[in-house]
Amino acid sequence: MGRNTTKERPKSSRRKSRRKKAKKGWRTAETSDRHELYELSVQEPEAECDLIDQIWKEQRSRKCNHIREDFCGTAAVAMEWVKRKKSHTSIGVDLDREVLDWARDKLPQRLDVEQQSRVTLIEGNVLTTKTEKVDSVLAMNFSYNLFKTRDDLRNYFRIARESLVDDGLFLLDAYGGSEAFEELTEDRDLDGFTYVWDQASYDPISGLATNHIHFHFPDGTKMKKAFSYEWRLWTLPEVQEVLREAGFKNVIVYWEGTDEETGEGDGEWAIAERGEACPGWVAYLVAER
Ligand SMILES: C[S@@+](CC[C@H](N)C(=O)[O-])C[C@H]1O[C@@H](n2cnc3c(N)ncnc32)[C@H](O)[C@@H]1O
Repeated sequence: MGRNTTKERPKSSRRKSRRKKAKKGWRTAETSDRHELYELSVQEPEAECDLIDQIWKEQRSRKCNHIREDFCGTAAVAMEWVKRKKSHTSIGVDLDREVLDWARDKLPQRLDVEQQSRVTLIEGNVLTTKTEKVDSVLAMNFSYNLFKTRDDLRNYFRIARESLVDDGLFLLDAYGGSEAFEELTEDRDLDGFTYVWDQASYDPISGLATNHIHFHFPDGTKMKKAFSYEWRLWTLPEVQEVLREAGFKNVIVYWEGTDEETGEGDGEWAIAERGEACPGWVAYLVAER
């Protein structure tokens, strides 16, 4: 699949890999920080914030100001959001203290004092953490796949819906395509390291998948299982159905355009009612409260 992308699950073979030559000897397993490598490999906070603005422009007659980034991890999107405008606020929620401490350490390097005052990082479970209502809740990098039954997924979607203002939009991503259901590894050479996406197991009876991220370095050292995910691989129709069951009045799919020259994804997202049966794709969903 190789969607080259910033997504955790590399985007489809429709996408071109932006391979950068590894700088020999620069990074090693011992000297590397797994959260930094994660951000460099799978996150694109600027593009994600651009997409929030695009979606709000297309779906609402006002701008989005307040967001909550569920499963925020390093809180890259929450931080980028407050950089953009003084009216922006963000809340990041994650239950892992270690990654939140990492994010808190980065705050002063990435944001000025005024910007920092508009970000709130909360150590908590997205199922039980109560926050002020926001314009958009974000559940990105497929994190909701950790809910393995339809009831649990619907319960989370209901909670996300209750956290939105009346005209709020819940934004989430999804991946799929034939290769999503295979056991395989894919690698991308990045700046001084190789990112390896490892679909270690998939059980077609339960729909359960185990995926890992490994990092390999030019000196031969490896950071194995830097991140591991036990997921239920929900399909896009299932996610749309469960969002509606959770009370969302409308669900819209944004599909990626195709670069005419390469035949791969072009990073442009548009509302679609029909996708393409490519081996690997990423889509965004917009659920209207
Ligand atoms: C796949 S990472 C996503 C990180 C980030 N959102 C991104 O776009 O790359 C999943 C994150 O969800 C967090 N997480 C898992 N279960 C959670 C829960 N029930 N409540 C809050 N955070 C949770 C994990 O600690 C981890 O940092």
